[in-house]
Amino acid sequence: MAHIANSRNSQLELFEPTGRVDKSQSKNGVGFSDPAFASNKTLPVHRWVPWIAGFSSDFVRDALSLYLNGEGTVLDPFSGVGTTLIESILQGFNVIGFEINPYAALACRVKVNAHQIGLNNLYSAIQGLKKFYKDKASSDYKPQSLPPEGFKTRAEFYSPKVLRKVLIIQDFISCVEDLMVRDLFRLAFASTMVRYSNYSYEPSLGRRASAGKEDILDFPVGEIILNKLIEMAEDIKWLEWKVPSSGATARIINASFFEHQAHIEPSSIDIIITSPPYLNNYHYNRNTRPQLYWLGYAETPRDLKTLEDSNFGKYWQTVRSQGRLELGFSLPGTDLEDNLDTLRALNVERGIYGGNGWANYAVSYFKDCYRFAQGISYVLKPGGKALVVIGNSILQGILIPTDYYFGKIAELIGLKLVDIHIPRETRVGNSIIQSAVRVTKAKASHQLYEAVVELEKP
Ligand SMILES: C[S@@+](CC[C@H](N)C(=O)[O-])C[C@H]1O[C@@H](n2cnc3c(N)ncnc32)[C@H](O)[C@@H]1O
Repeated sequence: MAHIANSRNSQLELFEPTGRVDKSQSKNGVGFSDPAFASNKTLPVHRWVPWIAGFSSDFVRDALSLYLNGEGTVLDPFSGVGTTLIESILQGFNVIGFEINPYAALACRVKVNAHQIGLNNLYSAIQGLKKFYKDKASSDYKPQSLPPEGFKTRAEFYSPKVLRKVLIIQDFISCVEDLMVRDLFRLAFASTMVRYSNYSYEPSLGRRASAGKEDILDFPVGEIILNKLIEMAEDIKWLEWKVPSSGATARIINASFFEHQAHIEPSSIDIIITSPPYLNNYHYNRNTRPQLYWLGYAETPRDLKTLEDSNFGKYWQTVRSQGRLELGFSLPGTDLEDNLDTLRALNVERGIYGGNGWANYAVSYFKDCYRFAQGISYVLKPGGKALVVIGNSILQGILIPTDYYFGKIAELIGLKLVDIHIPRETRVGNSIIQSAVRVTKAKASHQLYEAVVELEKP
């Protein structure tokens, strides 16, 4: 990789600034530079929905210019809120994205189609909302909409005054006729909805009270959403001018990548640019419960369970109580199995919080790495590349070089491991590492890094 912008520093922070990678100083050629540059948080369209991104838009842009010669099909098997998809569309490449979480998939769909939204319709809907909200919020209007019945939280999610305003907004959104505009409004609400709730991201979703913050008794809900919509409208104008008229297409598949055979032809993809969930148990589904329920994608906990079970790598919560799970393959020349055995033997007296629980989680994760590598091999054209941004991990004090193991798994499947680039040496740790219920309080910031595993299909 000659010059590729950095992945980001941690999946546990939302859109933190990232740096650039300079191959002249790469790991294999010794160390990387890390000058700061604007992150997704401030860039048009990328700024719409905060997410644990995996990488910045610059990383994707540079990768596309380096690896695709003007044409080709791009795939992101774990699209999140669509960094790879948007950049591909902006550069005129056809792109396919899998994303299992329906809220994130909505964000992808809205973003990649946004340049086709009729701006006049959008402006008049924004004006409509402004007037509707002003009239209704200041009168004794009784909203027709109801909060989602199945959405149960320990504390009241919205205080009564805030809830009334949110419901007024829902009343308006449900009547927007242009479906693309309506989805944009739904996204504007969903991407801001936690900000005026009694919950916050720390970075996992929890009660504000638990984080020492006061509940939000009242809030200018309409103003926040209108500002968001105005920002979106500005970006759509920018998109209209930026998206090439080549007619590149984007396909968003709201399903697990493990179902890829039902959706894509074998040997049809030129490049994969992606970042799967890391081995850090960041719970994408729990953290998006408010959006999933309020947008109507979940009605009961069973809906979340289905999502959880299909999530890449599973979650510790879903496998911790099971008997010993087996890897099902060997990884010669590595200490993966030794590490898993060591992990399993640790703190057995802590039950699910001890070795077996975490070893089961790690085993599930590497089993999915194996399936993922098989998927890469299935979809890539011969000579096609995959850039997989992945962080290492620390479980129960044991350092797990996930990037290295994943590279070796890919080799086992028959892919060529071209290189493992380490754009940034340290990243901030997470709750698994620091929590008091875990064993060793590792010095995470000195041991965690993020890597780009570069693979090629022979
Ligand atoms: C690190 S995030 C990717 C973020 C993305 N690079 C972006 O820029 O927004 C990983 C994503 O994988 C999704 N995911 C987890 N399991 C999946 C699966 N089996 N198939 C497809 N997507 C999955 C999660 O919902 C999450 O959005």
